[in-house]
Amino acid sequence: MIRLSLADIAAMTGGALVAADPGDAVTGPVVIDSRQVIPGALFAALPGERVDGHDYAATAVGSGAAAVLASRPVPGVPAVVVPDVTVALGALAKAVLGRLPAATVTGITGSSGKTSTKDITAQLAERLGPTVAPEGSFNNEIGLPLTVLRADASTRFLVLEMSARGIGHIAALCDVAPPRIGAVLNVGRAHAGEFGSLDAVAKAKGELPEALPAGGVAVLNADDSRVLAMAARTGARVVTFGIRAPEAGVRAEDIRLDDLGRASFRLLMPDGSAPVTLRLHGAHHVANALAAAAIAAELGMDTPAIAAALSEATARSKRRMELHERADGVLVVNDAYNANPDSTRAALEALGHLAQGGRRGFAVLGHMAELGDIADESHAEAGRLAARAGVAGLIAVGEEARPVIDGARAEPGWHGEAIPAPDASTAVEVLDNLLRPGDVVLVKASKSAGLWEVADRLLAEGAR
Ligand SMILES: Nc1ncnc2c1ncn2[C@@H]1O[C@H](COP(=O)(O)OP(=O)(O)OP(=O)(O)O)[C@@H](O)[C@H]1O
Ligand SMILES: [Mg+2]
Repeated sequence: MIRLSLADIAAMTGGALVAADPGDAVTGPVVIDSRQVIPGALFAALPGERVDGHDYAATAVGSGAAAVLASRPVPGVPAVVVPDVTVALGALAKAVLGRLPAATVTGITGSSGKTSTKDITAQLAERLGPTVAPEGSFNNEIGLPLTVLRADASTRFLVLEMSARGIGHIAALCDVAPPRIGAVLNVGRAHAGEFGSLDAVAKAKGELPEALPAGGVAVLNADDSRVLAMAARTGARVVTFGIRAPEAGVRAEDIRLDDLGRASFRLLMPDGSAPVTLRLHGAHHVANALAAAAIAAELGMDTPAIAAALSEATARSKRRMELHERADGVLVVNDAYNANPDSTRAALEALGHLAQGGRRGFAVLGHMAELGDIADESHAEAGRLAARAGVAGLIAVGEEARPVIDGARAEPGWHGEAIPAPDASTAVEVLDNLLRPGDVVLVKASKSAGLWEVADRLLAEGAR
């Protein structure tokens, strides 16, 4: 964070200083959790679902915060008072970025793989210079400005994740942090309930290429026709990546998976090629790696360096295709961070691969949220895919995931066991009785399904 006086912050946000000395300075960070305050911080008081940040304003200042960004005065607390704290965070981030002309902003969006690709891209960019990228999935109107506000004069690259749950969301994020490079990974069925159709998803994601300047670069997935069509919606130069599309500018050839589902391939770039062996599990990470490679090339990295950095990149964010082998030889695939139909397909394909060579495969699937009208058919499809992956057992947790069972049982020739479980604890008990040394078990669901607990308990039990 760059040093800002409270007068600067008031001017940047259109706020009013209350009980504050305009010359006092914020040296950072900007935080929304009073427990993260350190001396010199700015505490942004957001209205939460359960708590109101304003109730923690005095605590934050007591811990050393220089001031509070608030939507109403708090007695005895130095504050910049604004009409809307979230909007003010965006304005502040935008203004700070305006003072950092040396920083190149890359935005990454898509229905699946944003965090994974952001993490890979950041690990490439870091080789070129100081890089700021969000922790985990900080990708919305709060997380994105908080991430931008971590940048300072030394920052050369900002690698930002941009999410959309509706039309206009990405345009707003691009207004806060105007990207020079924008990558669109895929258009899928995440949040189908809110969007209503894949075309509406494409409309929203396409706001990223639309926001790019003429001198910018749109990195588009040539394997996804809705993404490729976004080439018509940008004034920027277009660079494509893809596995299937032969005309893509950045490609992978000769893809092989090892017994833990890690891909090796030959990376084909416009200026040459080099071998890559990923440390990430699942074939779907090849596309993410290609997107990262295309971005890194635009940032100035050469092909051998990109291939070397891709081969060393690790999964930085938790619960996405994390593999753990328990003491008893059971392999636990913790992909419980989140789920939508496309990432569930990717995870089940990876499970099918892991279950080759003698391991029995099991899947514990909870519901996929926010799918609206396509919820039942999407869960049934997940069941079918699990059956096709040859799982020995399939556990569907919760009522909304129930169609998973029907989908699997309807798949001709599948002889595995399909077991509905009312909750996570029951699922763990069922698994305790089913699992034998050497088996592999995938845990996957939307965050709201609460299956993080299943993966955690499976691992804790293995450690006993
Ligand atoms: N290219 C891809 N295609 C399909 N699934 C993917 C892809 N990349 C990652 N996934 C899977 O999707 C899930 C979410 O991955 P990740 O967190 O990278 O995506 P995200 O787009 O950031 O998600 P969110 O919208 O929750 O922030 C994980 O289970 C991951 O293994
Ligand atoms: Mg994410």
